[in-house]
Amino acid sequence: MSFRTTTYVEDVSPGRGALPPRAWYPSSDAKSLSLNGSWSFRLSATADAEDDSFATEGYDATDWASVTVPGHWVLQGHGSPIYTNHLYPFPVDPPHVPTDNPTGDHLRRFDLPEDWPADGEATIRFDGVESCARVWLNGTELGEFKGSRLPHEFAVGHLLRPGGNVLAVRVHQWSAGSYLEDQDQWWLPGIFRDVTLLHRPTGAVGDFFVHASYDHVTGEGTLLVDSEVAGRVTVPELGLDLATGEPVAVPVEPWTAETPRLYDGVLATKGEQVPLRIGFRTVVLEDGLIKVNGKAVLFKGVNRHEWHPENGRALDLATMREDVLLMKRHNLNAVRTSHYPPHPAFLDLCDELGLWVIDECDLETHGFTEQGWRDNPVDDDRWTPALLDRAALMVERDKNHPSVIFWSLGNEAGTGRGLTAMAEWIHGRDPDRLVHYEGDLGCRDTDVYSRMYAFHDEVEQIGRGLDGGTHKRRELPFILCEYAHAMGNGPGGLADYQELFERYDRLQGGFVWEWIDHGIRHPELGYAYGGDFGEELHDGNFVCDGLVFPDRTPSPGLVEYKKVIEPVRFEGDGADGTVRLVNRYDFADLSGLALEWAYQVDGETVEAGTLAMPRPAPGSSVDLKLPEPPADGRGGEAQWTVRAVLAEDTAWAPRGHEVAWAQLPVTERVKPTVVPAAAPVSGERIVRLGPGTFDARTGALLRVGGVEVSGPRLDVWRAPTDNDDGAEWQTDLRYGLLWRKFGLHRMQHRLDGVESGTDALTVRTRVAPAAWEIGLDTVYRWTTDGDRLRLSVSVTPQGDWTVPLPRLGVRFALARADAVRWFGGGPGEAYPDSKSASRLGRWDATVDGLQTPYVRPQENGARADVRWVELGGLRIEGDPEFWFTARRWTTEQLEAARHLTDLTPGDRVWVNLDHGQHGIGSQSCGPGPLPQYFLRAEPAEFSFVFSEVR
Ligand code: GAL
Repeated sequence: MSFRTTTYVEDVSPGRGALPPRAWYPSSDAKSLSLNGSWSFRLSATADAEDDSFATEGYDATDWASVTVPGHWVLQGHGSPIYTNHLYPFPVDPPHVPTDNPTGDHLRRFDLPEDWPADGEATIRFDGVESCARVWLNGTELGEFKGSRLPHEFAVGHLLRPGGNVLAVRVHQWSAGSYLEDQDQWWLPGIFRDVTLLHRPTGAVGDFFVHASYDHVTGEGTLLVDSEVAGRVTVPELGLDLATGEPVAVPVEPWTAETPRLYDGVLATKGEQVPLRIGFRTVVLEDGLIKVNGKAVLFKGVNRHEWHPENGRALDLATMREDVLLMKRHNLNAVRTSHYPPHPAFLDLCDELGLWVIDECDLETHGFTEQGWRDNPVDDDRWTPALLDRAALMVERDKNHPSVIFWSLGNEAGTGRGLTAMAEWIHGRDPDRLVHYEGDLGCRDTDVYSRMYAFHDEVEQIGRGLDGGTHKRRELPFILCEYAHAMGNGPGGLADYQELFERYDRLQGGFVWEWIDHGIRHPELGYAYGGDFGEELHDGNFVCDGLVFPDRTPSPGLVEYKKVIEPVRFEGDGADGTVRLVNRYDFADLSGLALEWAYQVDGETVEAGTLAMPRPAPGSSVDLKLPEPPADGRGGEAQWTVRAVLAEDTAWAPRGHEVAWAQLPVTERVKPTVVPAAAPVSGERIVRLGPGTFDARTGALLRVGGVEVSGPRLDVWRAPTDNDDGAEWQTDLRYGLLWRKFGLHRMQHRLDGVESGTDALTVRTRVAPAAWEIGLDTVYRWTTDGDRLRLSVSVTPQGDWTVPLPRLGVRFALARADAVRWFGGGPGEAYPDSKSASRLGRWDATVDGLQTPYVRPQENGARADVRWVELGGLRIEGDPEFWFTARRWTTEQLEAARHLTDLTPGDRVWVNLDHGQHGIGSQSCGPGPLPQYFLRAEPAEFSFVFSEVR
């Protein structure tokens, strides 16, 4: 046997030899053997560099390398990953692929376990191989397949023997299938999901379809299990024992993402018993709304790619579980499996822990947009069998998951008859779920109007039904299948979207883009992104746009999202001690939650306690009276903090886990006063004013008491965030670029005068960039009460300012600082349009701990609403409240760094005290900050009081 033909690689057909698709289940009483582990491996540069003699009996592969399966060979030292967003990394000439086509030959020897039954059949199942594979067992070819994130199963019983079986798999990185898999992610060839040998006893379970609906009027569930092989279905908890194909109605508790009630059952055929986990629920489109069990749902979702910083898309169960637990703990209720069906075990976790799922097909042809969608496979009948194959592989595999309520045709594949064919097939096969596809603007094939990155104002128009479109579309509900691009610092504007979703029924929520940064662990760079492997074409750090960092540490964006979507809302007036508690769940009452309160003065808890948790129905509210404020609630800034926490341990978080919170102010803050009580004393080189020592010539502060300080002086620059820079295709102004154009990163400080008055030292300056007439007249006025030093800054813009400012405040350096204490917003960073989760309190951190490790370094770490901060021996109070950041490098160094490993601590700590920050927005793929979060160049006055901490 010797084939040199590789025509199948460029064949548009889905492949040949595989068994028809069927339902996936994680366990049964039939034997199975995992073929995961170490495989022999040989990499060739082209698809036909080697003949297929390696698949023949007795082939000696002792000099081959080895790779771990599941895995990607490019992450195991053979070749390199490539990151492109939508550009194909090969010439677009479908279905042809380059001659240089990395091809990995894989070999695995295995013996059957001793108790492997002699009778029956057997199959080998591949859960995921990128992008095209050809398979042999014991020298006999089984077939070949494409469809990377879909299962393929082959009958092998007739070829198996007790010992010395050899499974040979040839995997090509590029194939016709690559044209259908142009998702925005790393190109990572390999056998990246499980390979399993399954015994198929005589009379084994074949395909089966569990239909479990719920009638919210009668409270009854209807169960019907269609099974290719007849058998019986038992559900002991419901006292059910019935034949397959036979419907039954019984009173049940329904399944929802909030109350993921599952009933354990068994499907038994003559030869096999398969455990079932049945969730009863009914999904319909009714009155223009997506309803589950009779109620409209609001999606608080996220797009999830599969990612692990070392293993790429080869995820183990623990990592999948961690994703679901993190989502649940951050109040998310929905996930879109962008942009392919996930490892099937992930959906089991969604069933068990409760998440609504949009299951998306492994299909994207985005790169065709570069040629006006000419030759797009989804509009070319020759490809339709491949599209239908992918639809069937997804639906048949995943159809028994109650969590899956939408099938999505794919992502960014333009439009075409192939998509319509997929939608028609899916609607016919599974009329009990809805169909999603974002690219179908007229909603011809879909059951929901879905968009990505629509700006707030457009979303509001859609909410109000003023958006037009086809008649069908106008009758449909709306979701944002992607919004709030979480690249780098941000997203900003989440709360503003949520407010719209809650205001208009038609808006049924959205899915933040995206869950995780796809950074690859790298020995020198920390986490690598596009371009770090010398790729010819790449899209840089656009692959790092998640709510969690590559190691799954929540970023501030996730903390913000958790707060914005919290299912309990507290509204009220702290001064009169009333609070309205709103149940924002769609299904659950609040019986799982306990209510805690604390009364705080100047950020310190004076008294705390609990209140009985009322039980408002979903969507309704209850008014509560808070306790009498404590008698010793000394004067100062007082507030209530109320929290809803888990009353008991749940499957996803322990008792006491915080679900929602709010703070209600009681009394206002007393601003610091410094009554001028001394005059500057001028020496030859220095001027003294109270505890302050200044340079007599420049007026610059040198010391406060014994603490050395350099600066402070006006600062408007921040290291632009990904969202400041914006995406190149944005038509709106991109301020990150304009700021640089106008030189805000290179402002010059002209000294106009240093004046010693009777009670103040005044320094007059003009801060302006070379080449432009715009400037900021800036006056620093220093006064003292003998003990403390007050700096009042007044800023008057001159010239025609057409851009907002990145920040407005002062910057100075301290010789040393480590521990930081403050009273203000915390514990994490916040910016004007991402500060919902910032809570007023007393916080401690270190300078290093204040940094947010965005994979590409950029502005980060600001703390909002700060009343005072202590660091490096200084105490600084603000009037009004301010933002502060402190770091061991300058803004310029932060801006120049490409990776976190480029940042090395200097010998000083740089502190920014800001009167204002510009909003963040999500212009790296969506809207910039809303106008109310702009930091406009306007006259401003602000002051800080410095004293030495002794
Ligand atoms: C969308 C796309 C995603 C991702 C995102 C930007 O257009 O569907 O896959 O590319 O933009 O990060």
